[in-house]
Amino acid sequence: MRKTRRRAAARRSRYAQLRHEAEEFLRLHHREEPAPGGPAALAARIAAVNAEIDATGTYRHTAAELAHGARVAWRNSNRCIGRLYWRSLRVRDRRDVRDADTMAVEAVAHLREATNGGRIRPVITIFAPDAPGRPGPRIWNEQLLRYAGYADRYGGGVTGDPRNVGITAYAQRLGWPGGPGTPFDVLPLVVQGSDDKPRWFALPDDAVLEVPLRHPDDDWAAALGLRWHAVPAIANMCLEIGGVCYPAAPFNGWYMGTEIGARNLGDTDRYDLLPVVAERLGLDTSTDRTLWKDRALVELNRAVLHSFDRAGVTLADHHTEARRFLAHLDREREKGRRVGADWSWIVPPISGSATPVFHRTYDPTQSKPAFVHYREALARARGEEAGSVEESGLV
Ligand code: ARG
Repeated sequence: MRKTRRRAAARRSRYAQLRHEAEEFLRLHHREEPAPGGPAALAARIAAVNAEIDATGTYRHTAAELAHGARVAWRNSNRCIGRLYWRSLRVRDRRDVRDADTMAVEAVAHLREATNGGRIRPVITIFAPDAPGRPGPRIWNEQLLRYAGYADRYGGGVTGDPRNVGITAYAQRLGWPGGPGTPFDVLPLVVQGSDDKPRWFALPDDAVLEVPLRHPDDDWAAALGLRWHAVPAIANMCLEIGGVCYPAAPFNGWYMGTEIGARNLGDTDRYDLLPVVAERLGLDTSTDRTLWKDRALVELNRAVLHSFDRAGVTLADHHTEARRFLAHLDREREKGRRVGADWSWIVPPISGSATPVFHRTYDPTQSKPAFVHYREALARARGEEAGSVEESGLV
C-alpha cells in the first residue's frame, strides 16, 4: 500500500518535471520560430502536451519541434567549435523505427547522405525515443564509423584504435568474426532494437569513405599506410529535447584536421604515432627540448589537411574554424542569445594561442536541448557489461 503510494508520488514528480521541461522547450521553439496563431497557439500547444503527458507519461514532438530541437542541441554543444552552421543540420525523422535491422539500413543511408561524395553534409537521424516502460533503441558504437582495436593476446599492445577495444571485443562476443586485422579495420555497427538484444551489422564498403594519408613533400605517411574515415558521426549520445530522450540519434558534422592529426593519431592512448613520425623525420628524440613531438604534430597535421584536400573531402583547419566560431559568437550575440562554451575543448589541441579562440573566456553553462552522454553507453564503449536500460542514468 505504502509502496503504491510512493510510486504514484514518484510518477507525479516525474510528470511535473517533464511538463516543466516540455513547456520550456515549447516556449523556446515558439520564440525562435514563431508559429502562426501567436501566443494563443503556444498556449494551446502547451495545454495539449500537458494532457498528453498526463495520459501517456510522455508526448510526441511535431516534426518542426523535433528539427528545431536537434539543431538547438547542436547550437548548445559547448565542446563544439563548429557551431556556426547549426541551422544547416539535415534532420532525418525516423521516430517510427525501433528495430535493429531497419536502424542499420537507416544508419547506412545516413552515412551516404552525410558523405555526399566528399562534400560532407551535417546530418542527424533520430530513432524512437525512450517512453515509460518502453526504452528506445540504442547504438552501442561511439560513432557510426570507427576502427577496431584488437587487444594482443600477450602483452598490453593493441592493433588498431585502443579507444575501441571494448566495442571490438563486444562485437566479437556477439559473433562478429573480426576484420582482416589491419590497424584500420572498420567496425560493424552494434545495434539494439527496442525490445531486442544487441546485434552486429557490417557496413557496406561503399558507405564508408576513407582518405589515405600522404604528406605533401615526403613519403612517410603513405609508407605507414595511414588513413582516416571522412565522417565523424557520434552515435551513442542521447538527444534530449523538452524532457524527452532520443537515445539513438546519430549525428555528424565534418572533421577539423586536428581531431585526426593531433588527437586520433597522436595521443599516446590512441595511435601514438609521434615517435614513429619523428623517427621517419629523423628528429632528435633524446630530449623533449628538441620539440620533436611538436614538430611531428605539425607534419602529421599537414598530411591530414593535404590528403583530405587532395581527395576532395571536406575538412576544416583549426585557424579557419576558430574564426568561424568567433563569427558564431557575434551572430548569436546579435540575436540576443547566450552561447555556452568549454574553453578546454574549443581551443584546438595544437597551436592554441595562434588561434583567436584562445584569447578569451567562455560561459560554461549547459543549455537544453542538448546531446548528453548516458552512463551505460560509456560503460559499453569501455567494454564493461552495462546494467539494464531501466537503471541507466544520464551522466
Ligand atoms: N573527435 C572525434 C573524432 O575524432 C569526433 C567528434 C566530432 N567531431 C566533429 N568534427 N563533428 O572522431
